[in-house]
Amino acid sequence: MPDRNAPLSHRLATEADLDSIRALMDVAIAELQKGVLTPAQISASRGSMGLDTSLIRDRTYFIVEDELTGEMAGCGGWSRRATLYGGDHSAALRDERLLDPETEPAKIRAMYTHPNHTRKGVGRLILSLGEAAARQEGFTRIEMGATMAGVPLYEACGYHIIEKGMAAPVDGIEVPVWRMGKSLL
Ligand SMILES: CC(C)(COP(=O)(O)OP(=O)(O)OC[C@H]1O[C@@H](n2cnc3c(N)ncnc32)[C@H](O)[C@@H]1OP(=O)(O)O)[C@@H](O)C(=O)NCCC(=O)NCCS
Repeated sequence: MPDRNAPLSHRLATEADLDSIRALMDVAIAELQKGVLTPAQISASRGSMGLDTSLIRDRTYFIVEDELTGEMAGCGGWSRRATLYGGDHSAALRDERLLDPETEPAKIRAMYTHPNHTRKGVGRLILSLGEAAARQEGFTRIEMGATMAGVPLYEACGYHIIEKGMAAPVDGIEVPVWRMGKSLL
């Protein structure tokens, strides 16, 4: 059983974290979507999930660590750019345009918790860090493209469903991605 009271620390991700982030994402995608997607959908979901290095360059991506062991427990962040979801490889989904905080919602991006560290508040912590940073830059709304594994976390943190959509099919396999959002006011 995970220790739900294990102390967590957080910091901004750097390029030195890239390999560890990739490894954590890989295991989270494989293990934590099992209850909500078929094996074929999990495989297809890799087309629209994973590492977006622009978040690390922008210094809007966080690492959460188990303070006692130093182990990476999770990662995730936010963005002032238009891309809603997707990794470096998801070329069709990318839009590097800077958003206007007065009229457009900031984005929550690339949330992943290591399977050994779920339900300890890692996801909730990263969301609160991203929301605070976006608010600090003048954004009044925030949105994301949510996987089915992410929906319970986002609903628990006050996000509502805006649109139930699908990622572009991979080998004919469709994977749900729901646009969700909340006010930062
Ligand atoms: C989604 C994900 C990041 C959640 O991470 P987490 O660190 O376990 O979430 P938290 O511990 O902060 O959960 C906070 C609350 O969200 C809800 N929640 C989170 N995971 C849940 C689950 N699997 N089932 C039901 N509720 C859940 C609960 O209300 C929880 O509070 P509680 O534990 O006190 O009941 C993690 O499951 C994951 O990495 N999934 C695979 C990758 C993915 O799909 N990421 C989302 C991309 S949009």
